[in-house]
Amino acid sequence: MNSKNWIKNPKYSPAAVFAFCKNELISSPIISAKWSITSVGIYKAYINGKSVTDTLLNPGYTVYDKRTQYQVFDVTDLLGVGEQKLRIEVADGWAVGTVSFAPNRNAYALNTAVNAELEITFSNGDIKTIVTDTSWQVFTTKTEFAEFYYGETINLLHTPKLLGNALFDYFAATFPIIEHEGEFVREQESLSPLSLIITPKGERVIDFGQNMAGYVEVKAKGKAGDRIVITHAEVLDNDGNFYNDNYRQATNRMTYILDGSDNCFKPSFSFQGFRYIRLDEYPFDEVDLEQFRAIVIHSDMRRIGYFSCGNDKINQLYHNALWGQKSNYIDIPTDCPQRDERLGWTGDAQVFCRTAALNFDVKRFFKKWLGDMRADQRDDGGVWGTIPARFSTDDFSKKVYITEPCAAWGDAATIIPWELYRAYGDTKILEENFEMMKRWVEFERSDGDEEFLWLGRIHTGDWLAVDAGEDEYIGATSTDFIATAFFYHSIDLLIRTGEVLGKDMSEYKNLKDNVYAAFRSYFMENGLPRPDRALTEKVSSGGEESKLSRDAGMTQTAIVLILHFGLYEEKEFKGLADKLIELLDLFDGRMSTGFVGTPYLLHVLTKIGRTDIAYKLLFEERNPSWLYSVTHGATTMWEHWNSIKEDGSFWSTDMNSFNHYAYGSVCDWLYGVAAGITVCEDGAGYRSFTWEPHPDRRLGHINCSLNTPCGEIIANWYYSGDVIHYEITVPSSSTAKITLPNGKLKILNGGSYRFATAAEKCSTKLI
Ligand code: BGC
Repeated sequence: MNSKNWIKNPKYSPAAVFAFCKNELISSPIISAKWSITSVGIYKAYINGKSVTDTLLNPGYTVYDKRTQYQVFDVTDLLGVGEQKLRIEVADGWAVGTVSFAPNRNAYALNTAVNAELEITFSNGDIKTIVTDTSWQVFTTKTEFAEFYYGETINLLHTPKLLGNALFDYFAATFPIIEHEGEFVREQESLSPLSLIITPKGERVIDFGQNMAGYVEVKAKGKAGDRIVITHAEVLDNDGNFYNDNYRQATNRMTYILDGSDNCFKPSFSFQGFRYIRLDEYPFDEVDLEQFRAIVIHSDMRRIGYFSCGNDKINQLYHNALWGQKSNYIDIPTDCPQRDERLGWTGDAQVFCRTAALNFDVKRFFKKWLGDMRADQRDDGGVWGTIPARFSTDDFSKKVYITEPCAAWGDAATIIPWELYRAYGDTKILEENFEMMKRWVEFERSDGDEEFLWLGRIHTGDWLAVDAGEDEYIGATSTDFIATAFFYHSIDLLIRTGEVLGKDMSEYKNLKDNVYAAFRSYFMENGLPRPDRALTEKVSSGGEESKLSRDAGMTQTAIVLILHFGLYEEKEFKGLADKLIELLDLFDGRMSTGFVGTPYLLHVLTKIGRTDIAYKLLFEERNPSWLYSVTHGATTMWEHWNSIKEDGSFWSTDMNSFNHYAYGSVCDWLYGVAAGITVCEDGAGYRSFTWEPHPDRRLGHINCSLNTPCGEIIANWYYSGDVIHYEITVPSSSTAKITLPNGKLKILNGGSYRFATAAEKCSTKLI
C-alpha cells in the first residue's frame, strides 16, 4: 500500500476516539475488495456499520517511526451496490497515548492519523482504489475517552459531531510501513462470574475466579442517562475489600452511559488486567450476574504443549503460568497486563520464552517482536530494557529513554532467537537475528573498560531475589558477576548460531576463551565464586559508581550461573554442587534466587544429580517458593514470591503485580525434566529429542504432550503399586534418545512404546 496517504483530524484532542469517514457510491457489481489499513494509534474499521475484522488493537505495537504494520482485510462480502459507508475509528493507543510508568504521552506522535487503501475489483475487470485523503470527514464518536491505563468512557447519548475534513499528516508519512508480521490479537474465551461479593466496606464486587487480561462485557437495559462505572482489581485485601492500589496511576476505569435501549458494552481500544470488578456506579438494585462476562484476549498463538499430573497444587502452578502467558502475550511480551507498565521488558521475556515456546507456538509472535528489537538496537549494539523502547518525554522529537541496556535483559537478543530455533528448528530465525546477536555481544565486549569482563554498568541484577534483604529489588549477587556470566553465555549462543548458519566463528571462540579465563580469575577463587571481591575493589565506568558495592558473591544464583553456563572446570563441579546444596540449606532448604537465578535453579539441581532437591523446592510451600502463591489462592504467577506476605499484608504498592509470568519459567523444568522431553540442539525442532523422565510419587503421574514441527510427542508415566509405567510416542520424523534404568541409551524411532520399572529401583535420577 502507499505509505504517503496519511490523514489526521483537523481538531484532534487527546484520548478521545475519532472516526474518519467516507461515503462512496458503487454502481456496478464487484468480484473482490481488499482494504489495507494502518494508523498512528489503534484503529477499528467498519463498512456499512459492520466491523471488517475480529482482530483487536491493530496495527499492533511496533517501533512505529521505523516500522508500522498495516493489515489487509478481505472486505468483498461487506460491500454492495449503492452508497457504501467507510469508517475508521482511531484511538491514541501505544503510539500517542499514555504508556510507561511516568506520565508519558506522545512517544511517537502528537496526534492520531490513519492511512487506508480500498482496492475494489469489478465484475468487468475494472479496478478502483479509494485512498484516505482530504475528502474524508472526521467525527467525534461515542467513545469519548480511551486510554490503555485509564480505561474508556462510552456515552451512547453522544451525538457525533462533524469536526471537518481530514488534513494530510506529513509527519505520519515519515513512518515506514510494513506488512503485518505478528499474530493477531483476538477474543479467545470468556468467563462467567463466580460470585457477587458485598465487601465489608459495602461495595459490590464481582469475582470472575481467574486473574486475566481482557475486559468485561456488560449488558444493561436502563434509563437513558443511567451510568455504569466499573473498576478492576486482581485481589481483595486481607479484610476482603476491593484492592487496586497496586495498579498505581492506571485507574482501569470503564464508564458507560446508557441510552435506554438494550445495551451491551465492552471496550474496543483498551484492555484490563483483573480478576475482580467493583461496581462503582450501577443503576440497578439487583446485580444479575448473567449480564456480565469477562472476555479473555491475547495473541492468536496455537496451543501446542499440555502438562498435567496427579498433584492438584502442581497442576494449579502450571495453570497459573499458562494464564500468565495468556495475559501477557498481547501483541508483545509484557511484564504485566494491569498497572502502568505493560511494557515489553526484555528480561522477563527471555526468562519465560522457553516455557512460552512449549505451551504455545510463539514463532510468529516473537518474529515481529525481534523485528522491533532489531529496529530499536542502538548504534553501539545496546538493547534497551524494554522493546519497543520507551522514552520519557512530552516532546516526541527528544527521546529520553526510560531504560538502559543491561545484563540478562539485553541478552534476550541472543537467548530468544536461540530458544525459538531449538523449539521450531527454523534457521531463518537465526539468519534474521544473527547480526543483532553479534552486535549485542560486541556491546557487551566494548561496554566498560575491560574487554573480557563486563564491569561497572548499572544493572537490574538478580531482580527481586530475596537474598538482598526485605523489600529490596536487586538481589545480593554481584551485578558485574551476572553481567560477565551473561556476556559469556551470549558469546556461546552466538557461536552456536553461527555454526548452524555455517559461519566461521573462530574470532568468537577466542573471545569466549578469553572471557572464560577473565571471569574465572576475576570472580572465582578455589573453584567457587569469590565472595568478597567487591568489598576490596571498586570499579567505575563513565563516572557512575558501580553496583559492585552490592556484591556478596557467594549466592545461590552465582553458583547456578557458573554451573548452567559452563563457567567451571570439571574438577570443580562437585565443589560447586556441594556449595549450592549448602547455600540452599543455609536458606532453610529454600531458594533465595530472583529473575536471573530461578529459571535455571531446578535444571542445575538435576544436572548435579539432585533432582530430589529440585522436587523438594518444587513442593515447598513456605515463602519463597512456587507453591506459596498457589496455597494463597493465586490463579496467575505473582511478581514477588510473597506479593501477599504471611501476615496477609501486601508488598509495597509501587511494585506488586499478581500477573507477572517470570517465575512461571519453572514449567520448562516440568516439561523437560519431570515429564522428560528435551529437544537435542543438533536436532532442533524435535528432529531428535531426549526422553528422560523423573518420576516422583508425589506427582503420581504425568500426562504430557507436545505438538512439535515433526508431529506429536506424548510422554506419560504413572505409578501403579510398586511399578512405574512409561509411555512414549515418537513422531515418525523424529528420533528419541531415551535413558534406560541401567543408564544405557536407547534410540527410538517413530512409534509408540511402553516400559515399566520397579518403583524402588527408580530414584528420581534415571529410569
Ligand atoms: C518490571 C519488571 C522488569 C523490571 C526491570 C519492573 O518494573 O515490572 O518485570 O523486568 O522493572 O527493571
